[in-house]
Amino acid sequence: MRFALIGAGVIGAVHARLIDTLGDDATLVAVVDQSPDRAGKIVSEYGGHAYATAAEAYAAEEIDAVAICLPSALHADNAIEALHAGKQVIVEKPVDITLAAADRLIAAQRETGRTVAVISQRRFQPPVTQIRTAIDNGALGRVTSGIAESAFFRPQSYYDGDDWRGTLAVDGGGALMNQGIHALDLLVWMLGRPVQVSAQTGRLAHEGIEVEDLAGASIRFESGAIGLMLASTAAYPGRPVRLTVHGDQGTAVLDDDQLAYFASAEGARPDAPVVDGPDGWGPTELAHLAQYRDFVAAVRDGREPAVTLEAGRRSLATVLAVYESAREGRPVELEED
Ligand SMILES: NC(=O)c1ccc[n+]([C@@H]2O[C@H](COP(=O)([O-])OP(=O)(O)OC[C@H]3O[C@@H](n4cnc5c(N)ncnc54)[C@H](O)[C@@H]3O)[C@@H](O)[C@H]2O)c1
Repeated sequence: MRFALIGAGVIGAVHARLIDTLGDDATLVAVVDQSPDRAGKIVSEYGGHAYATAAEAYAAEEIDAVAICLPSALHADNAIEALHAGKQVIVEKPVDITLAAADRLIAAQRETGRTVAVISQRRFQPPVTQIRTAIDNGALGRVTSGIAESAFFRPQSYYDGDDWRGTLAVDGGGALMNQGIHALDLLVWMLGRPVQVSAQTGRLAHEGIEVEDLAGASIRFESGAIGLMLASTAAYPGRPVRLTVHGDQGTAVLDDDQLAYFASAEGARPDAPVVDGPDGWGPTELAHLAQYRDFVAAVRDGREPAVTLEAGRRSLATVLAVYESAREGRPVELEED
């Protein structure tokens, strides 16, 4: 599969390495970035040709699939352009920053019938798969509650470094929209469709940004389960995601990228799937690679990818409900998705 990378920044460089690691399944043929230096650096390391715009790349190269690694508010429009140019698409999280943009992309995907996957690499981490399998096979019983904790830290220099970070117009939000969405997506994947959100947000440890560095929420799910969520970039020094899922027959805890605790009245602890990759890679990068493999297989087999646009939209809708609830000071109901 011949890939174009759109956006050659921090995560674009990771995608280039992932594409390179797929071996015969993938080749990087084009790298698009408004910064020739950034595009050129990736080209010199992983091959392909550098372009300033996607349109130039599409005109010049044979491209099967496009990886969108641009700032968040540019995701949907660039993914739609790629779909209409006949490409399959893998788009970084969040799917975009508004539901209107996500819906435009969903409409374009349905119209073109092409594959679009939204990155949520943590769903592919072995301990996360174990928890999800335990839910699916009944080992936790009826899922009653969950807690997603993203107690991260970002120094002021993180927000000062790129002009889109911490802006409402392009980042679309802060500690939750950009960072906490990963663990929130896991909570939603485990507990089902959120129906009501009560939330608070704050900006306590950073200056000169328009977005929150702290968000807390309680979420009621369609099943009746209750979720709690903390997303912070103001929790020095920052620690790994912790996700707890409780059921009436068992409990599972992800902590520090491990299945830190598992108890079940009757059910067995599911085996951890093997996610292989190059030596020395960390758990989130290996998980990212596993999601790439899923995308390539989905395109090849003509099936849905593991993380669909609809899944990405559901997590985005939950983030936006958190913001609305915090702004309005009242619980917010989520519409059917
Ligand atoms: N899955 C993950 O773990 C993960 C991690 C980091 C970032 N992300 C997501 O990836 C996206 C990018 O984040 P980042 O940290 O790599 O940002 P970044 O600022 O490092 O990179 C963005 C790149 O896009 C380029 N760019 C911006 N506008 C452009 C345009 N109109 N045309 C061409 N190029 C343009 C910039 O020059 C820059 O190189 C964000 O949506 C973020 O949420 C995901």
